[in-house]
Amino acid sequence: MPQQYVVTSALPYANGDIHLGHMVEHIQTDIFVRSLRLHGDQVVHICADDTHGTPIQIKAEQAGLTPEAFVAGWYEKHTADFRDFDIGFDLYGSTHCAENEVVATEIYNALKAAGHIATRDVEQMYCESCKRFLPDRYIRGTCPKCGAPDQYGDVCESCSSTYGPADLKEPRCALCQKPPVIRSSRHYFVALGAYADRLRAWTSGDHLQADVRNYVDRWLTEGLRDWDISRDGPYFGFKIPGEDNKYFYVWLDAPIGYISNTWRWCKQQGLELDRYWRNPDTRVIHFIGKDIIYFHTL
Ligand code: 2FM
Ligand code: ZN
Repeated sequence: MPQQYVVTSALPYANGDIHLGHMVEHIQTDIFVRSLRLHGDQVVHICADDTHGTPIQIKAEQAGLTPEAFVAGWYEKHTADFRDFDIGFDLYGSTHCAENEVVATEIYNALKAAGHIATRDVEQMYCESCKRFLPDRYIRGTCPKCGAPDQYGDVCESCSSTYGPADLKEPRCALCQKPPVIRSSRHYFVALGAYADRLRAWTSGDHLQADVRNYVDRWLTEGLRDWDISRDGPYFGFKIPGEDNKYFYVWLDAPIGYISNTWRWCKQQGLELDRYWRNPDTRVIHFIGKDIIYFHTL
């Protein structure tokens, strides 16, 4: 019997060139899609640029461009490279599209209505001169363990210790070199505990390869901590409903990009999205790297 599939590769960030690592993944995915089609299966092959988040927002600023113009430039390059390598996407879209905002907001609202969104105050490094909260990668300082200078806020490249940015000695903002302060802000979280049983039932099914399942089971067993899904502006992303300066964290809307870009393709074809994403007879296959299993499982 022919089977219906949605097949995807991980969405490349819209802030750098497509490199061999991307191509290895996309060519594998493309071979898989072509083999399914030869076998008579019906496949939708979807990918998109992953456009949101602090690094893209800052790089756009440094290039003197709006984030929209910045990601549009990378979109041209990415699609040209994939075309040159003959990767046969049905649609190569973007996470910065109206459909993605609609679906991300719908999922957030559903979580909220079900009582699974929590808020609490989070203390973070803030640069008063850049007027922004600093993610770990934008804080540099001296490693608290080995004393190596000029290390990131989360890991020392000299001794490999991991720590929090508040542990760094003489921390400074990687953008302006000034010392940051600690500031508190209210964040939104998905209360994952409510989903532990459902996730465990899903992971113990036949959805994951054995080594991936073991990895995921480990953090299910350790206990699911609430997932921080908000970031304060300035941030390139979708606004959280009812907030002026808080945005969905890029990893909330990026995987939803698989759904929303399938929706865009469906609209072009005059088809209903539910035929693919709310159909138990559709198999959804994600080609991804090991480092992003966590986000994809969530
Ligand atoms: O790790 C990365 O390169 C991400 N841009 C992958 C996103 S995949 C999906 F979740 F959007
Ligand atoms: Zn600064």
